[in-house]
Amino acid sequence: MYIPDHQINAIRTATDIVATVSNYVRLRKRGSNYVGLCPFHNEKTPSFSVNPGMGIFKCFGCGKGGNVFQFLMEVETLTFPEAARTLAERAGIELTIDPEAEKKSRTVESVYEVLRFAARFFYAQLTTTKEGRKALDYLRKRGFSIETIRRFGLGWAPDTWDALIKEAEQNQIDSKTLQRAGLAVPRQGGDGHYDRFRARVVFPVFSVIGKVTGFGGRTLEDAPNTPKYINSPETAVYHKRRAVYGLFRGKSAIRTEEEAILVEGYTDVLALHQASIKNAVACSGTALTKEQIRTLGRFARRILLIYDADAAGGKAALRSIELVLTTGLSAYAISLPPGADPDSFVREHGAETFREYMQTQRQDFVTFIHSMAQRAGTLGSPEGEHTAMQSTVDVIARIPDPLQREPFIRRASEVFGVPYATLRTALDRKLHPTRARRVAPEPEAKTAVVQSKIAALPPEKALLQLMLTHGE
Ligand code: UTP
Ligand code: MN
Repeated sequence: MYIPDHQINAIRTATDIVATVSNYVRLRKRGSNYVGLCPFHNEKTPSFSVNPGMGIFKCFGCGKGGNVFQFLMEVETLTFPEAARTLAERAGIELTIDPEAEKKSRTVESVYEVLRFAARFFYAQLTTTKEGRKALDYLRKRGFSIETIRRFGLGWAPDTWDALIKEAEQNQIDSKTLQRAGLAVPRQGGDGHYDRFRARVVFPVFSVIGKVTGFGGRTLEDAPNTPKYINSPETAVYHKRRAVYGLFRGKSAIRTEEEAILVEGYTDVLALHQASIKNAVACSGTALTKEQIRTLGRFARRILLIYDADAAGGKAALRSIELVLTTGLSAYAISLPPGADPDSFVREHGAETFREYMQTQRQDFVTFIHSMAQRAGTLGSPEGEHTAMQSTVDVIARIPDPLQREPFIRRASEVFGVPYATLRTALDRKLHPTRARRVAPEPEAKTAVVQSKIAALPPEKALLQLMLTHGE
């Protein structure tokens, strides 16, 4: 979204940087400045300073500094337009954008509004109605506290075809808008709509800044033809490839611990947060995607993947690990005892044991691949051993930073008992297949000719020529 300069200036003028920063930092006045403990690094004596006259902040400890937009972007991990919008809203400034963009953003806004409306309706159904009582009892029986239910905004979608549609009608929201929000489904053949979520406990999926973008819904029946969960379809604001469940509530813990724990289910996130393990998130209803990892990368340096102890779970985890490493984050994997999921584990053993388990049982990916092969019993044969080593090298090759690769080559050398140099050669071959294939050096004469020709070329052409003739 493009915001014109004069509006940016208006927001800046209307915003009190001291008031904004005070939402995050306890400030004391010192001279014409305000000082406090830096929110961007750990410190005991304040080196963070705000100058209201100039509208800027600066930390003399970690060097971070800038204006109020940059402060909000940094502390809330927002993009510039997101920060500008937030500040504009607070300052009561209405942003006007170009008509096309505005029309689109109005549609998006109306979708957000309807989603919020629905979330409130579902929450009220769960917490105040007789029908919702059953669902509330179910959640309480599973150990979820009222506080958790409130924080995550859980709700109950009534057991009828049109409870939400009717409620919406009374609030001048038509079914078309509900449909755009993924909440109503057009009737086949006839006209009209019906509610997508019926007779389900609903879990709102919040965006990073806390807007409802969609829902997951769990049935309480154990019927073979009913899927246990259904999720919102793709809409203007819900993209399952991007959604990370629990991130809104988890982002500050993830930032502090520099690590996100990735679990599978909505209920796993709830149970862990309730046990004060607040860096747990889930990618609900999909395998982990690049987009989700990139979003997590705004807060985390490491991702700890919890996977099912069976072979399929291991395979899925390996795929996720590769994807995480490709984006430059670190990845660890851990499996729970067979049959357990994070929710049941933490309920049975408590938060302390869970934390300890996470620390002591996690495996870096080299150890993970090795022990998976060991468990599958394939390490006994040379082919099996080779396969495991090859997939280790393949994964190392996906790490973009060469320095980050080094410890893993050494680890692989230890774990598989193969000389470092051998692994290095295999890795180089994987990384530079063309160079490895060209075994015989090119004849001197030809190189000399090429070089003299290059000298006569303009630099861009010379560079292309060099790249074509000398891969390295
Ligand atoms: P699980 O079947 O492990 O359920 O699915 P769960 O999260 O442990 O839920 P409870 O504890 O039985 O209530 C893991 C996740 O996979 C997605 C959901 O996001 C779910 O939380 N899923 C599962 C679906 O999207 N559709 C399904 O039919 C099943
Ligand atoms: Mn479960």
